[in-house]
Amino acid sequence: MAIIMDGRSLAEEIKEKVKEDVEKLKDFGINVGLGLLLVGENPSSLSYYNATLKACKKVGIRAYQFRLPAESSVNEILNVIHEINRDERINGLLVLFPLPRKVNARRVVNEIVPEKDIDGLGAISVGRLAADESTFQIFKEGTYELLHECRFMPSVSSFLPCTPFGVIRLLEHHNIEMKGKHAVVIGKSLAVGKPLSLMLLAKEATVTVCHKNTHDLGHFTRQADIICSATGVRGLIRADMVKEGAVVVDIGINVLENGTIVGDVEFESVKEKASYITPVPGGVGPVTIAMLLENTVRSAQRTEFMKSPLMLE
Ligand SMILES: NC(=O)c1ccc[n+]([C@@H]2O[C@H](COP(=O)([O-])OP(=O)(O)OC[C@H]3O[C@@H](n4cnc5c(N)ncnc54)[C@H](OP(=O)(O)O)[C@@H]3O)[C@@H](O)[C@H]2O)c1
Repeated sequence: MAIIMDGRSLAEEIKEKVKEDVEKLKDFGINVGLGLLLVGENPSSLSYYNATLKACKKVGIRAYQFRLPAESSVNEILNVIHEINRDERINGLLVLFPLPRKVNARRVVNEIVPEKDIDGLGAISVGRLAADESTFQIFKEGTYELLHECRFMPSVSSFLPCTPFGVIRLLEHHNIEMKGKHAVVIGKSLAVGKPLSLMLLAKEATVTVCHKNTHDLGHFTRQADIICSATGVRGLIRADMVKEGAVVVDIGINVLENGTIVGDVEFESVKEKASYITPVPGGVGPVTIAMLLENTVRSAQRTEFMKSPLMLE
């Protein structure tokens, strides 16, 4: 019977630390600010938007809300991004996806300055992750705090996408060794699967990435020490596809007709075989929001400590 990896309690711990850091910055006269950009009224985006607003309030981060109608033009959206890029009160920007179909999402995220790209989706952030220039952030909870105490902020770095960053935190929190393990990631999106595979690689795991065109998914998952599923396909991972004692991280979110939320994994049967498993809801989801807040406060710290004359003391 697997140990349940409780994302809610880890998220609370992370948020407590964020709150402390937000308070410390206030002593320097700095209020931490997060911009939220929502185009249209997609229900799942709206629920993420509202959950983020609530979380910001809890840790003392000021939320700046930008809502545009679904029929907005690309230029109108870009104008808002440029406004946020220039706004000294805003340390990070969260763009809610999906954007309306006619809008090229890559065009939009690439316009966010890397310093405020706290979801790590712009081409520069993705490139720095692939080049291992930003992966120092996934080594040992607390290392980053130590760097902060030393008043040393690495100058070349970007933010890591919050969901895969949260997955790594969750694994670290449970002392799950990644080095030398075979990790199978299912899904290769730019927001989740691809960056997660790069982070696991940086952690010295042997990584296999599966997707829609992978033949015989079970052939790969049965070899995995760690399975991370991020597809949005309900019931994709069954017990017969999981090795005894494997760690199973379920990132998928599927909303059933009755409103119930389930993941990609058949939880009840898989938990009998796995050593660790994340529930849905209450696993990766809450940690994602906590990481978003953490990236936002890091952005404020970096900006101030990089620019502040205090560095020269
Ligand atoms: N918990 C959280 O905080 C959180 C955050 C973000 C997303 N999510 C959830 O995670 C899931 C994935 O999100 P996303 O943004 O990555 O979605 P996405 O952009 O739609 O990507 C889904 C990925 O799954 C792959 N896939 C789809 N069906 C598959 C199948 N039958 N077998 C193997 N691979 C399959 C796709 O392969 P191809 O590339 O070949 O099409 C694609 O790479 C969704 O349910 C989303 O709601 C959760």
